[in-house]
Amino acid sequence: MKKLLVTGGAGFIGSNFVHHWLTQHPGDRLVVLDALTYAGNMTNLSGIAQRNEFRFVQGDIGNTSLVESLLRDEAIDTLVHFAAESHVDRSIHGPDAFIEANVLGTHSLLKAARKVWLDEKTVPEHRFHHVSTDEVYGSLGPEDPAFSEITPYAPNSPYSASKAASDHLVRAYHHTYGLKVTTSNCSNNYGPYHFPEKLIPLMIVNILEGKALPIYGDGRNVRDWLHVTDHCRGIELILQKGRVGEVYNIGGGSEAENIYLVRTLCAIMDEKFAGDHALKARFRNAPAANGNPSNSLMTYVKDRPGHDRRYAINCHKIETELGYRAQVKIDAGLRSTVDWYLNNESWWRAVMDGSYRQWVAKQYSA
Ligand code: NAD
Ligand code: TYD
Repeated sequence: MKKLLVTGGAGFIGSNFVHHWLTQHPGDRLVVLDALTYAGNMTNLSGIAQRNEFRFVQGDIGNTSLVESLLRDEAIDTLVHFAAESHVDRSIHGPDAFIEANVLGTHSLLKAARKVWLDEKTVPEHRFHHVSTDEVYGSLGPEDPAFSEITPYAPNSPYSASKAASDHLVRAYHHTYGLKVTTSNCSNNYGPYHFPEKLIPLMIVNILEGKALPIYGDGRNVRDWLHVTDHCRGIELILQKGRVGEVYNIGGGSEAENIYLVRTLCAIMDEKFAGDHALKARFRNAPAANGNPSNSLMTYVKDRPGHDRRYAINCHKIETELGYRAQVKIDAGLRSTVDWYLNNESWWRAVMDGSYRQWVAKQYSA
């Protein structure tokens, strides 16, 4: 039986991981530490928050003494670190928050883990798993081979630079102090509970609301899309069988240009609306509610500064060593994601207008 501390467990990938882990490992203890920034949302954990094996702590990973007491008091043996500022566009406009959370925050966790696990030896075995991104490897040309674990780091945005710095700190705490770490670098995730500022959920919500679909530059940038459940399965395999000190890339094997993705979402939506009067009545501003194609909303806008052209992941290592296989094909994954947003309108409206915070305040006020 493991005792996990999951940082950032109220965010997009973290909350999917919490759902996945508690379903697969019902006897395990799981504590979430999350600051509940704009991206963290307790409703992502609804259905879990009341379970005995689960505890939620609202707090900052930069609070080293809080992390130490959680590791000690809960006899945590496994730390899975998702907490971060995660949106490239925000990092361009305000890099400081990224240095604070991603670099200093990760260092605070490492210091706490070193003190409690290595100095105080509270548990016989421990593991610090660091969740990182393929963006640390920089940008690929159209013919370049996909990123592997030995591709040199070349981060281009304040976000990816802050993640790269955190990866180096994790590596250093293993080599210098003997902390038992693993790191995963994965490609762009999509799926349920994705905050509608990232490409896929933003496009879904904007189509429904009849708002412009902003395509940066020529829209030909390529990302390697990974369904969030495949990412969670990859991390689970690393925790179970991964070698200490190693890095594993996790990818979806689904490279796609942004415009392909947006056109596909538009086509899925047009299909859903066709003949569905209830949907047309719910979303009156959607073009498809009025017989127009959703792709009429596609609008080319000024490119993101320093926009990486292409990401692609070579996940041969995790496939051969740990038996990982991405299971969700992109077209099926996009369809199920559209369905999730159609079935969870109250979720995306609440996270976008911030009203879930009132609910949090009620639940967690002292
Ligand atoms: P997210 O922005 O949806 O969630 C981040 C969570 O961390 C939120 O719940 C937020 O409240 C919390 N948080 C932020 N700063 C904190 C702090 N100082 N202390 C405690 N909690 C804090 O992010 P996500 O998309 O779920 O990404 C999770 C991790 O996965 C990140 O480390 C990110 O770099 C990495 N990653 C994401 C993707 C992707 O496609 N989303 C791809 C590769 C790697
Ligand atoms: P994003 O979801 O922000 O992830 P990342 O920048 O970490 O890859 O963006 C995915 C791609 O979509 C990226 O090439 C930028 C592009 N994009 C748009 O064209 N329009 C948008 O409104 C957003 C948010 C992203």
